Amino acid sequence: MHKIPSSEITPEHLFLSRRQLMGSAGALSVAALLAACGVRTPGAPATDTVPADARTDELGDPLNSFEEITTYNNYYEFTTDKQGVARLATGFQTSPWEVQVGGLVGNPRTFALEDLLAFEQEERIYRLRCVEAWSMVIPWVGFPLRRLLDVVEPRAGAQYVRFETVFRPEEMPGQRDRYYPWPYVEGLRLDEAMHDLTLLATGLYGRELTPQNGAPVRLVVPWKYGFKSIKSIVKIDLVDTMPTSLWMALAPNEYGFYANVNPAVAHPRWSQATERRIGERGRRETLMFNGYADEVASLYAGMDLRVNY
Ligand code: MTE
Repeated sequence: MHKIPSSEITPEHLFLSRRQLMGSAGALSVAALLAACGVRTPGAPATDTVPADARTDELGDPLNSFEEITTYNNYYEFTTDKQGVARLATGFQTSPWEVQVGGLVGNPRTFALEDLLAFEQEERIYRLRCVEAWSMVIPWVGFPLRRLLDVVEPRAGAQYVRFETVFRPEEMPGQRDRYYPWPYVEGLRLDEAMHDLTLLATGLYGRELTPQNGAPVRLVVPWKYGFKSIKSIVKIDLVDTMPTSLWMALAPNEYGFYANVNPAVAHPRWSQATERRIGERGRRETLMFNGYADEVASLYAGMDLRVNY
């Protein structure tokens, strides 16, 4: 396998430009980001096209189109058919919405969507690598999860964060399939959750998040397989034991807790060495930690990543 030294994964000037972009975008509200991207505001002429975006992520990869990002989805609560999620998720009620944050915290709180949008929103262009070996580059809008966790004040015993998706089988036909242990649950170690790259996303392409992408609020952890990036979150708990995710419960030999993107560790049923970028021909080599090794490798120092997969 071709190895890329971690020093090449994020050339410093590109990393800096990402930071600068984040810094400047950070000063904008979602409304300003939406306006800047030509999203319709009341009274403005109707247009449903998103302008072509010539920007890239910090490795120079072009963004996937809004169309690609919103028509090829994994959201098993609706259907396992990636091209069918958007249609089935149309009309999903994303407002009002509340996220209960509790467990081992000094200051448990319920955040309404408006409270989440009151955190300073910024744009982050991240690669998303699905465990199924396809990938995209997505311009998210959101804020670091750390800022929300700081508000609730994790207590000394808190070691993990457990996330839960809404359970609404009347609106989500896939949740009527009892094969899956609903609700969808995911987890992070507290230090992973506090990492600056870990985002709570509320938007996409400068617009509100679409239902098929996890509206109104989802997690985005770019160095882990996409299944860790849980959608439509209603509950966040700080806990002292490692949470069991839906995928760990269903197939523990295939899906571990960490799920860090790792081209050297194959899924039991397929290789993870390469990936298919949606919209491209051929395959690309998969990068360790999805290309974010410089930022996150230290979180796993001394751990055997073949055992902790
Ligand atoms: N979250 C929930 N609640 N249900 C899901 O089925 N699928 C995961 C993740 N989050 C999923 C989920 C998987 S496998 C991937 S690859 C990403 O969402 C896909 O996100 P996207 O559809 O926005 O690209």
